[in-house]
Amino acid sequence: MSATLNIFVTGATGYIGGCVVARLLKHPKAASFQITALVRSNEKAEKLHTLGIKTIMGSYADKNSGFLTEAASKADVVFAIADNDNLAAAEAILDGLKLRFEKTGKTPILIHTSGTAIINDDARGQHSNHKTYSDLETETLNAIPVTALHRNVDIPIVEADKAGYVKTYIITPGTVFGSPSGPLVDLKVQNEHSQQIPYFIKPSIARKQGAYIGKGLSTWSAVDVEDTADLFLVVFDVATSGSTAVGHGAEGYYFVENFLYSGLEVAQKISEALVELGIGSTREPSAFSQEELEKNFGPFWPLLSTNSHAQADRGRALGWVPKRSTKEAFLANVKEEVAFYAREQGPLATVVEIVTFKASEVLLANPAVADSVLEYFKKALGVLR
Ligand SMILES: NC(=O)c1ccc[n+]([C@@H]2O[C@H](COP(=O)([O-])OP(=O)(O)OC[C@H]3O[C@@H](n4cnc5c(N)ncnc54)[C@H](OP(=O)(O)O)[C@@H]3O)[C@@H](O)[C@H]2O)c1
Repeated sequence: MSATLNIFVTGATGYIGGCVVARLLKHPKAASFQITALVRSNEKAEKLHTLGIKTIMGSYADKNSGFLTEAASKADVVFAIADNDNLAAAEAILDGLKLRFEKTGKTPILIHTSGTAIINDDARGQHSNHKTYSDLETETLNAIPVTALHRNVDIPIVEADKAGYVKTYIITPGTVFGSPSGPLVDLKVQNEHSQQIPYFIKPSIARKQGAYIGKGLSTWSAVDVEDTADLFLVVFDVATSGSTAVGHGAEGYYFVENFLYSGLEVAQKISEALVELGIGSTREPSAFSQEELEKNFGPFWPLLSTNSHAQADRGRALGWVPKRSTKEAFLANVKEEVAFYAREQGPLATVVEIVTFKASEVLLANPAVADSVLEYFKKALGVLR
């Protein structure tokens, strides 16, 4: 590889991706990295530029994904940490990496993000009786059908590795939790909230009581967001060192987990938090009714009540040690998230909306005083938030 290591990152402004980028920025070899991030807004691009990160504007949803192929064709390493179910985007990135290989004769690296939903069952919250999958079970994992979540993208990625023009590594977290920190958080460019637990928190705030699906008994693997980013970097370091110690392709699934939690435990914690916030009146959770399930989650509710038991043996063998991923930290984070979304969804949010509406009315009526009025409302909103 050239003296400069060209790194292309998708999802750089995301919950996980922001933590990965933060680590690349403080990496001992950071001076030799040229990081390019895919972004979807000028505002985020400008903020990333202040960190020395180049940007490319585009979306996985764009009809023409040629920009992804071009960006990947200039990269020695691609971190794909945006929407992991977008096959067209993954194929465009693979096309670019193939071009890179043909042009340089050197095998580029793709570190893709999947999720332990690949090993889900269909327990619907009724039990926790499910197999634990180690990421060393190569044959079992590669036999998971294309119909399982994320496999439609994971399979072509593994096939590309087999074809020999790219080395692929698939980082596969369970539920990711925790409060990220770092330069992208400081710049307010990074999403600071996970995806999965808020699915339960938001409707629970509305019903003023924590809720679970079925009996709440099915369990999921979980891991802290910073620990997750650590594993991306462990794999990156070993892969870029040229070492053969790191599995790739068919041997390239890297689970990320450190403990199991149940829907019941989450619902219990949400109920407690709601009582402490003065929103709920009982510390006990209850089951979502069928009507609530369909209203809140549509036909996808069974996906939120599966078992997903992973064992991150591959990462641990490379020296990955999760430092923050404990059940206690997870449940404490659930409480923090309840407080956050209660503010977002509460009466204050309505006040913020009204102030914003009034501000736009005043601005439209008095364009001459726009700047000072805008400044005033910004301050008012700052106080409210
Ligand atoms: N969080 C979890 O618990 C978890 C667990 C397992 C797997 N995963 C997977 O890991 C990946 C990252 O998750 P995350 O929690 O970091 O997600 P996130 O916080 O929602 O961040 C997603 C990132 O991808 C970008 N993005 C989203 N849609 C895009 C599109 N159509 N085109 C280009 N960029 C797009 C976002 O950009 P903007 O800043 O413009 O929005 C953001 O940078 C996802 O594929 C997710 O399914 C997450």
